[in-house]
Amino acid sequence: MAVQSRWNDYYRNTEGRPPRTTLRFALDRFAAPGFAVDLGCGEGRDTIELLRRNWTVLAIDSEPAAIGRLLARRDLPPGSRLETKVARFEDAVWPGANLVNASFALFFCAAGTFDPLWRKMIGTLKPGGRFAGQLLGENDSWAPRRNVVVHDGAAIDRLLDGLNTELHEIEETDAVTPRGEAKHWHIHHLVLSRP
Ligand SMILES: C[S@@+](CC[C@H](N)C(=O)[O-])C[C@H]1O[C@@H](n2cnc3c(N)ncnc32)[C@H](O)[C@@H]1O
Repeated sequence: MAVQSRWNDYYRNTEGRPPRTTLRFALDRFAAPGFAVDLGCGEGRDTIELLRRNWTVLAIDSEPAAIGRLLARRDLPPGSRLETKVARFEDAVWPGANLVNASFALFFCAAGTFDPLWRKMIGTLKPGGRFAGQLLGENDSWAPRRNVVVHDGAAIDRLLDGLNTELHEIEETDAVTPRGEAKHWHIHHLVLSRP
C-alpha cells in the first residue's frame, strides 16, 4: 500500500521526469564517479541519474513515501550502490562526499536551521567536491511563508564566498507547480565547487 504523504501529488506528477540540469552540469565536470549525497531526493529523478553514471549514493528524504517510491522504481540500475535514509537533512549526518546534490529541497528546511545546514553541507565536501541545487530569491511568491527560506542577492554572495562558482543562473518565471499551484519562481540554480 502506498505511504500517505503531503508530497504524494508532487511525486506522482513528476514521476519519470529527467534529472535536473544542475545535477547534469555538475556530473559532467567530474573525471570519475564518486560518492554523492542526494538531499531531499524525492522519488529519485536525480538519484537514478547518479546511479546510472556509476556513483555510490546516499539518498535522504524526510518522507518515507519518497524513499519507498525510489526503492520501488523499475529503472533502478542493477547492482546499484544505493543507501537510503528517512531523515530531515537538518538532523542527518553523512560522510565526506564528492557531491552534495539538493534539488529544490534546501529551502524547505526548518526556520532558523539554514545556516548550520549550509555549513554542515559545505563542510562535508571533499576538496574538489561540488554542491548542486537551488535556493530561492526574495521575489519568490513563497517568500512570505514561514516554512520556506529565501535569500537576497547579498546573502547568496555570502554563501558563495570561499567556493568556486561554476554555475549561477537566476530564473524568474510565472508557472504552475507540479501540485497545480500558480506561482512566481525566483530561483538561484547553483553548482559550486570546494577549492
Ligand atoms: C520539491 S521536492 C524535490 C524532490 C527532488 N529533489 C526533485 O528535484 O524533484 C522536495 C523534497 O524535499 C523533501 N524535504 C523537504 N523538507 C525536507 C527536510 N527538512 N529534510 C529532508 N527532506 C526534506 C520532501 O519530502 C520532498 O521529497
